[in-house]
Amino acid sequence: MRFDSLWVNCHLATMAGDREYGVMRNGAMGVRDGRIAWVGPAQELPKDAEARATLVKDLSGAWITPGLIDCHTHLVYAGTRAHEFEMRLKGASYQEIAEAGGGIVSTVRSVRAADSDALYAQSLPRLKAMMAGGVTTLEIKSGYGLDVANELKMLRVIRRLNRETPIRVIPTFLGAHAVPPEFKGRSDDYVDLVVKEMLPQVAGQGLAGAVDVFCETIGFSLEQTERILQAAEELGLCVKLHAEQLSDSKGAVLAARNNALSVDHLEYLDVGDVPVLAKRGCVAVLLPGAFYYLNETQKPPIQAMRKAGVSMAISTDANPGTSPVFSIRIAMNMACVLFGLTPAETLKGVTVDAARALGRQDDLGTLEIGKTADFAVWDIDSPADLAYQLGGSPLRYSVVNGRKIA
Ligand code: NIG
Ligand code: FE
Repeated sequence: MRFDSLWVNCHLATMAGDREYGVMRNGAMGVRDGRIAWVGPAQELPKDAEARATLVKDLSGAWITPGLIDCHTHLVYAGTRAHEFEMRLKGASYQEIAEAGGGIVSTVRSVRAADSDALYAQSLPRLKAMMAGGVTTLEIKSGYGLDVANELKMLRVIRRLNRETPIRVIPTFLGAHAVPPEFKGRSDDYVDLVVKEMLPQVAGQGLAGAVDVFCETIGFSLEQTERILQAAEELGLCVKLHAEQLSDSKGAVLAARNNALSVDHLEYLDVGDVPVLAKRGCVAVLLPGAFYYLNETQKPPIQAMRKAGVSMAISTDANPGTSPVFSIRIAMNMACVLFGLTPAETLKGVTVDAARALGRQDDLGTLEIGKTADFAVWDIDSPADLAYQLGGSPLRYSVVNGRKIA
């Protein structure tokens, strides 16, 4: 057996199998052609493995985990909403700010005013912050353009981030994020635009593989959401949903029944709807950063989802309004402290379950033979350290497609 690189003197959190973290102490991992070609206990390595490897990396006792996956972000935007943070601290609610022309629509104004280069330049440092925290796969949504040209502009910036940075960037089309000001009072007409013009162009140009909708009183109704999800499916696109963030709109059940990859937020999910998610294999994406920033008190029904065996992914929801969080490990810590997840559940939530939320579970999310060689090397004593510590970064470096990135 010949390897392009062989990683030795390390511990592995493979996130595969039945053991917590899939722990393999004193392990080794061989990579060939950008994929994991061998993984197991070091003493079981074939005798000539080191001699036949092009590169042998002695990790001096470091831990390897799968590369971390942030499966729900709005990282591409222009401007800031720090003033809304100040307004909320003076008593205004997120809904009040949105209804007064702030919120998502205020970022829409900034995004429309920025050209592609400016949008790219403003988004890049945020992507680099994510990368510095061990993220190797990052989903990014459109949704601050809200007209044909600006939604496509956002998706092209997302594609450029994928091409020009070392990490894997996965685009999602979120044209139905808010009703733009020029369609105020005519939300059905805006849904027409999304369905008849935006979706066909997004699909035709291959700019996104999945479609999301903000199903909410301040977003889109259940009926409008259903129209968009069905149109997306007809074009062969995957679907996912912002559901039950501020109220129980029944979006999660609708999405799960439409084979959604994931339903995200879920603070107001009715316990009675949990079995549908379990039955349909729909991932629940938890976004504790938004819960934290909005000073929410209603928690997602974690225990019911755990009992029902619903996969729970964790993500930053990185966005300028409800979650200016650019560290996946902070989201992991918040999921522990605010939602009561265990550190092992959170690492699963940013690897295996996040991969599933993106429909990439066959390729990403665990250290297993045949999967893409995306992983992170950490100076930690045990995998629980990743969710335990706040501040600083124990990341030594990450590897994408078998290649070390900065
Ligand atoms: O996931 N809920 C809707 N969308 C974002 C917020 C976006 C914004 O406020 O700019 C979220 O919380
Ligand atoms: Fe979101």
